[in-house]
Amino acid sequence: MGIYSTVMETVTEVTGLSPTAFFIILAMMVVVYNIVSGMFLGPEDFRQKPQKEPIQVGDITESELRAYDGSDPKKPLLIAIKGQIFDVSSSKMFYGRGGSYSMFTGRDASRALAMLSFKPEDLTGNLEGLSAEELGVLEDWESKFIEKYPVVGRVVPAPNSSENGEKVHIQDNDRNEKIES
Ligand code: HEM
Repeated sequence: MGIYSTVMETVTEVTGLSPTAFFIILAMMVVVYNIVSGMFLGPEDFRQKPQKEPIQVGDITESELRAYDGSDPKKPLLIAIKGQIFDVSSSKMFYGRGGSYSMFTGRDASRALAMLSFKPEDLTGNLEGLSAEELGVLEDWESKFIEKYPVVGRVVPAPNSSENGEKVHIQDNDRNEKIES
């Protein structure tokens, strides 16, 4: 006796149905299962969608960083802390236009975060005169950002400028004297 007829006989014996009726009912059950399960979310719907690969901006100055303040929707939202530039585009509700922390976007926010300040004059990478406690607060922010956001570049001082609050001396060759900018 072949396997086929053994299976058919067993189906009839166990279910009391003819093999044709059994397979029609089985096929209908599969169709109904697929329709009903399609109405619910599967585990893959709860998995985080793969993030777009962040764009590396490399070494840029504090003023170049300003272009990433959310005014151009095609550009990522960037914030620098202690010179490291983070892509914070995933938290658009905080840092996008109109977001509660959008004043930090496109800036090195180190000083403001260290001092827990929203003052525009504190939106700078200049850490001069900060207390040990404020520097500790800044370190906590830095760890939070490292954990949450990708680093996409570094803030570098503009050539011959006083960005980052650094004093730069420019040699004026004609008059042979130093001018402090
Ligand atoms: C009344 C005082 C404040 C309240 C009630 C408050 C509340 C919050 C809340 C609820 C969040 C969201 C937390 C989360 O979902 O991860 C948040 C995030 C944040 N807060 Fe505040 N905040 C306050 C003051 C400040 C100050 C003074 C600063 C800095 C100057 C600041 C900077 C931030 C930043 C940068 C984030 C976003 C962090 C991230 O990207 O995950 N906050 N705040």
